[in-house]
Amino acid sequence: MKGVILAGGTGARLSPLTNVTNKHLLPIYNKPMIYYPIETLQSMGLTEVIIISGREHCGHILSLLGSGKGFGMKFAYEIQEEAGGIAQALGLSEDFTDKDNIAVILGDNIFERPFDVSSFNHGAKIFLKRVTDPQRFGVAEIKGDTVIGIEEKPVAPKTDYAVTGLYLYDQTVFSIIKSLKPSKRKELEITDVNNAYVTRGEMQFDFVDGYWTDAGTFESLLRANMLAAGQTLEKILRDLQRP
Ligand code: DAU
Repeated sequence: MKGVILAGGTGARLSPLTNVTNKHLLPIYNKPMIYYPIETLQSMGLTEVIIISGREHCGHILSLLGSGKGFGMKFAYEIQEEAGGIAQALGLSEDFTDKDNIAVILGDNIFERPFDVSSFNHGAKIFLKRVTDPQRFGVAEIKGDTVIGIEEKPVAPKTDYAVTGLYLYDQTVFSIIKSLKPSKRKELEITDVNNAYVTRGEMQFDFVDGYWTDAGTFESLLRANMLAAGQTLEKILRDLQRP
């Protein structure tokens, strides 16, 4: 299995922080944001990873991560010229993945625990987490052990199961991406990719253990920092309460 980290997009929601560097290099406690998805892929035993980045400050990503040697991994890079959506960015990894199955992770997603993906061999798999603000995410409807549909940022979510930014796909994903039409917000949507697998009856799911957050807004960036700081944050809060 090969890994794909999607670190494109403009980071506009985090301006002015993203005026001077790429969103995925902003600090999450003691590490740049992109270290977290790298470590999640590492936890699955993956060593070959392509990083898809936007043009803005992409040189910073390259000079931080280089060949991947520091992680005991091998990194390749591709540039997404414009933020045409998560599925468009994923499409750029087709040559690199070369008929292997792939684990795709969004560059702003922080997972606490490792994943075991060794049993995956075909179709697609998503990872769900119950949240209090499902309107911000792709939201899955499930019946028994089947995903029956996913809605992207629904105004009235049918469930509170957010679709997190980790996806496993077989190579069919690239023909699905080629058949997509841009959504109302003019992006190729990962939710449309996932629903294509749902329609074929080839979508599996699991639940995320431990905490999960994205980090693409000021509030979620702060939450990611607080979660990653863990016991250090608890100590700071205790100290603040001292008279
Ligand atoms: O975090 C999980 C959510 O991520 C899912 O529940 C949603 O279904 C999915 O659409 C996505 O929603 P967001 O609106 O939060 O995605 P955002 O546009 O913030 O992009 C997340 C990451 O994806 C970003 O850090 C880099 C990558 N990306 C995004 C776009 C739009 C790209 O590589 N290229 C792009 O064009």
